[in-house]
Amino acid sequence: MSGGLVDSYNRKHDYLRISVTDRCNLRCVYCMPEEGMEFEPNEKLLSFEEITEVVRILAKQGLRKLRLTGGEPLVRKNLEQLVEMLANIPGIEDIALTTNGVYFAAKADKFKQAGLTRINISLDSLRADRFAMITRGGDIHRVLQAIEAAYRVGLYPIKINVVLMKGINDDEILDFLRLTLERDIQVRYIEYMPIGHDDAGWKTKYVPLSTVLEVCKEQGFEVAESAAVYGNGPSQNYQIQGAKGSFGLIHPVSDHFCQTCNRLRLTADGNIKPCLYWSDEFNVRPLIGNEEQLLQLFYRALGQKPETHEMALKLTDKTQSHTPTLRRMSQIGG
Ligand code: 5AD
Ligand code: SF4
Repeated sequence: MSGGLVDSYNRKHDYLRISVTDRCNLRCVYCMPEEGMEFEPNEKLLSFEEITEVVRILAKQGLRKLRLTGGEPLVRKNLEQLVEMLANIPGIEDIALTTNGVYFAAKADKFKQAGLTRINISLDSLRADRFAMITRGGDIHRVLQAIEAAYRVGLYPIKINVVLMKGINDDEILDFLRLTLERDIQVRYIEYMPIGHDDAGWKTKYVPLSTVLEVCKEQGFEVAESAAVYGNGPSQNYQIQGAKGSFGLIHPVSDHFCQTCNRLRLTADGNIKPCLYWSDEFNVRPLIGNEEQLLQLFYRALGQKPETHEMALKLTDKTQSHTPTLRRMSQIGG
């Protein structure tokens, strides 16, 4: 045992986001171009055994929570097997999944049995035609079925991720709020981040999340800041009086939450990313099988983790202190 996964700003890390593939069955406008994405060949991806090995080592240093992301994680075959392997690691208490939901309904039972504890489903519009436009061809019914399947197998609390974009879906803020009135669900509004995307396009579509609270005010909703929904990291949580569900605001741009960051990221091709925004990466691949050296690499990554990202500087085109990542969100996993 050593001192645990602490960085130079004394932030304790107990959470790892694992991207299992950079591929996706959709092409959301804010995430990937319609054509011409190049993907990692399968042999460059960490195997389930390699991922499990990394997590086993980190769990001894205090890692407790995992999230599987992509791309779309369910594009990876037999993902439930990975969930089971990870769930058997001593120390791991929580295994969540972020998915677009398209392939989920048919596998919900398997995931639950394997030990999945929670699910976040991305759903940026409640209108079928608009959903198809944003995802470039996705079928909203598959996603709605995924939500029902998550209820059925009891993956509470079920969270819906909504990335707000001006002129694209910001007129649906109220519809999503109404959903929380009717259902035991948490809607998480997420600020559109300038990652892997052309900056000019980003700035014109970025919506600060204060807008959501303004809509509540206009509607006369009584809103109370609610106790944390289990598993909520950076989300500020609210509940409309009388609502069955709740909503959360994740505002990395207008008000970052770096001071409480507890997360590390592992890309599908085996790179540790201490921060989602910057380019620094540390490749674990050559060190798998050598616990001591692998751990040293994680300590080095933690030691170089910057205090904060600087996304907000992009709004005013100010110079940044480091180099932002060239990866797209689909290669980082959110
Ligand atoms: N800004 C904010 N959220 C994003 N996501 C993907 N790209 C972006 C972006 N540029 C979201 C997805 C998914 C989660 C993993 O990250 O919608 O819900
Ligand atoms: Fe796929 Fe998610 Fe990116 Fe949409 S946001 S293209 S679902 S990885």
